Amino acid sequence: MPDFKPIIPRVVEPEGVVCSIEPRPMGKSSDEDRARAVEETGGAPRIEHEGRSNPYIDYQSLDLMHSLQHLRSEGYDEMCFYIMGQCKELLFRGLHMELVNAREQLRQDNVANALQILARCKAYVDYIANSWNVLGTITSEGFNQFRDYLSTASGQLSYMYRHVEFVLGNKDARLAAAHRNVPHVWPAINEAFESPSLYDEVLRYLHRRGYGIDRSMLDRDWSEPYASDESVRQAWLEVYRTPTAENPEYRMAEALVSLDEAYSIYRWRHFVTVHKIIGFKPGTGGSAGVGWLQNVTSHKFFPELWEIRDAL
Ligand code: HEM
Repeated sequence: MPDFKPIIPRVVEPEGVVCSIEPRPMGKSSDEDRARAVEETGGAPRIEHEGRSNPYIDYQSLDLMHSLQHLRSEGYDEMCFYIMGQCKELLFRGLHMELVNAREQLRQDNVANALQILARCKAYVDYIANSWNVLGTITSEGFNQFRDYLSTASGQLSYMYRHVEFVLGNKDARLAAAHRNVPHVWPAINEAFESPSLYDEVLRYLHRRGYGIDRSMLDRDWSEPYASDESVRQAWLEVYRTPTAENPEYRMAEALVSLDEAYSIYRWRHFVTVHKIIGFKPGTGGSAGVGWLQNVTSHKFFPELWEIRDAL
């Protein structure tokens, strides 16, 4: 598509946009209010709104959101790349919130709640992986038209992505340190780096349920990369002796391994799409590009659940 300049339709006049990050004042309505509204409108959608906005715009500050596509080039494919980048950031935000809550529910031994949340986490990861369907339509020539404008920006610097990796237990001091100079981002990243991950809490939960998890796995330096452990392998093997829906530990194991599987597919699709678009050129973030991505693609968050597979 690179032969012609894109038309970027103007959908909002920037002067009218309220740029505050504060939530905009909004009312609240009830079933009764809605029933009354239907009587007033005769069932047709309301078209009169007070002020200079409407409640749909205000609920999510949508005029502001739609003012944040700052394309740097005249390359046709840049809008697609930009929008998908923003969508993915939001999806990482949504996924992260769910993972933090799954971890919290496990801490409180509410395994049924944690399982319900993990089903949504997997759905998020599947959805994020499908974003490569759209991104994969970017051609090498199309990417070349805007690549230089990325300067040294790279998804590797996404703090939202890093939060997801950290709560899932993939701790990396170098990648954490990349955010040290950002005072409004660093405290949360650093806290995530030093906190137990979802899997660390799963192991503590297994311990509380009577499984023989080694002490060294229950209280350690959480910022250290997770290393596969024999006592954890044995605990999962024990869990898999009762592979029934009534066994919450079995259901947890299956939920985790399915999440890991979905995440691997996400990483793999990133790697393959990037290979197709830039071949083996270096990445914008200073890495060797595809070669580096290939290495991170093999990472598993819950290694023992994979290692025991041939014994099942
Ligand atoms: C379609 C064009 C894309 C290309 C060619 C591409 C290329 C790359 C490359 C080469 C790397 C290695 C690090 C470096 O930059 O040196 C990387 C990492 C990364 N990219 Fe992309 N990328 C693309 C789209 C995206 C999008 C839209 C996102 C979503 C926000 C994204 C998220 C990431 C993340 C999170 C990493 C770090 C992976 C990790 O730490 O495991 N990429 N990408």
